[in-house]
Amino acid sequence: MIGDQPWNHLAADFGFILSVILFMVAIMRLGKVKTARSGNGMAAVAMLLAVVSQLVHEGQMDFIYIIIGLGVGSLVGLVMALKVKMTQMPEMVALLNGFGGLASMFVGIASYFQYVEAQATSEKKGLFDIVVTNLDKMMGGFNGINLMLAILVGAVTFTGSIVAFLKLSEKMSGKPILVPLRHVINGMLLLVPLALSVLAVWGPGSMALNLTFVIIVSLMALLLGIMLVIPIGGGDMPVVISLLNSYSGVAAALTGFTINSPVLIVSGSLVGASGIILTQIMCKAMNRSLMNVMFGGFGAEPAAGAGDKKDDGYKNVKSCDVEEAAMVLADAQSCIIIPGYGMAVAQAQHAVRELADAMSKRGCQMRYAIHPVAGRMPGHMNVLLAEANVPYDQLLEMDAINNDFKNTDVAIVIGANDVVNPAAKDNKASPLYGMPVLNVEEARSVFVIKRSLGAGFAGVKNELFEKDNVRMVYADGRKACEDLLKALKEA
Ligand code: TAP
Repeated sequence: MIGDQPWNHLAADFGFILSVILFMVAIMRLGKVKTARSGNGMAAVAMLLAVVSQLVHEGQMDFIYIIIGLGVGSLVGLVMALKVKMTQMPEMVALLNGFGGLASMFVGIASYFQYVEAQATSEKKGLFDIVVTNLDKMMGGFNGINLMLAILVGAVTFTGSIVAFLKLSEKMSGKPILVPLRHVINGMLLLVPLALSVLAVWGPGSMALNLTFVIIVSLMALLLGIMLVIPIGGGDMPVVISLLNSYSGVAAALTGFTINSPVLIVSGSLVGASGIILTQIMCKAMNRSLMNVMFGGFGAEPAAGAGDKKDDGYKNVKSCDVEEAAMVLADAQSCIIIPGYGMAVAQAQHAVRELADAMSKRGCQMRYAIHPVAGRMPGHMNVLLAEANVPYDQLLEMDAINNDFKNTDVAIVIGANDVVNPAAKDNKASPLYGMPVLNVEEARSVFVIKRSLGAGFAGVKNELFEKDNVRMVYADGRKACEDLLKALKEA
């Protein structure tokens, strides 16, 4: 136990200020590949400092429950972190967002009980007292509304994230589920809880009635979370994940107001704001408006040009073996590697780097073109390539490199598909139409390393494979790179 001394509050306030500064510096560092790792570490330290400061601030308390909670939480986190594969990261992020939402919802509900108790004990008699009481009630009412919003946003984040998790892990179909009259139902699921929240806070109802309102608000918000995410197709899931991430931040910030924790308000706001900025960036990268993602039910019907992951529908596709490809690579002066989801599946990043190093040694200029939605999570390719120690200055964002393909000898596409599909530029019937893609076909020679002509995430045919300057190298990504390296050394 910690005694309730003045130094507690002073030390806690100092800790809060320090952790807020650390959070802000951390989020700035997370914006650049080079500094992201240290930014992550800094954010972890800030979080620890915030938790410890809050405990010191609370003063008189029994630590046993906190120690048990910390122990159980850390164990679950450790097991999850050790078990999760890189390709499962987006699902894990979805799940963690959901836990954040659930925590906010629980804190909101618990705070409602405290709020009701505080309101009941603030009743006073006398004219002056009545004025003060009403003022208190009004101010307390704002707190009450705030905590009802924490319950609402937390509940939506929780169930929305669980549905996103199930879709991403393919435990439920990634296809949009379009419930008839869903916009009307969703409108009701939003407006009724808002009205009940006002009644629960300012209404004349009894304690029992108010608690019933809180339960109804929670249940309807939980249902709203499901209703909001089931109509969203798998292709738009990345946007949904970052949006839910933003919601979890908003829920945390609201909870911060509820429990009077400035550090939670700041950190929640940072997550909320950065989540919404990321959502905007991803919408732009996929050329979708946020409204289209949230309400469009994109991908409900297979669009014209959509394949069904079979090898049919292709004409004049040319393939070659690794020896043939290695001969072209041996003479190349410039090369751009385009990594995609298949590189992550094959865990080919180290083999890719070794191949690139060998080509570099032969005098070839090596660069990597990183599409913003390549893989299955924001920054997926950057993380993998950084893990393989690829120099940061070789990683170029799409906008920085897209005009250079026309002056490049060879492009090696490794496990990428949708992000190099020219249909996005010229086939209005394609569901990818409008998404900016890499101009791979402009390179003099293109090698596409993948196992078959199977479709990518969007399930559509890729006309790149039929271009004259493109050769398919049918193989697992890692094996192909290892064999290419061997063949290159012999060339
Ligand atoms: P995809 O279009 O999904 O294509 C991946 C390709 O990798 C597949 O066509 C597959 O072809 C190949 N592949 C799978 N395993 C392989 C292996 N072991 N070795 C070699 N190739 C392998 O990938 P992309 O181009 O990176 O595009 C990403 C897509 O995912 C976009 O549609 C994007 O919207 C979506 N998405 C992105 C995110 C984020 S935030 N990045 C999140 C969710 C969804 P084979 O089966 O023929 O080998």
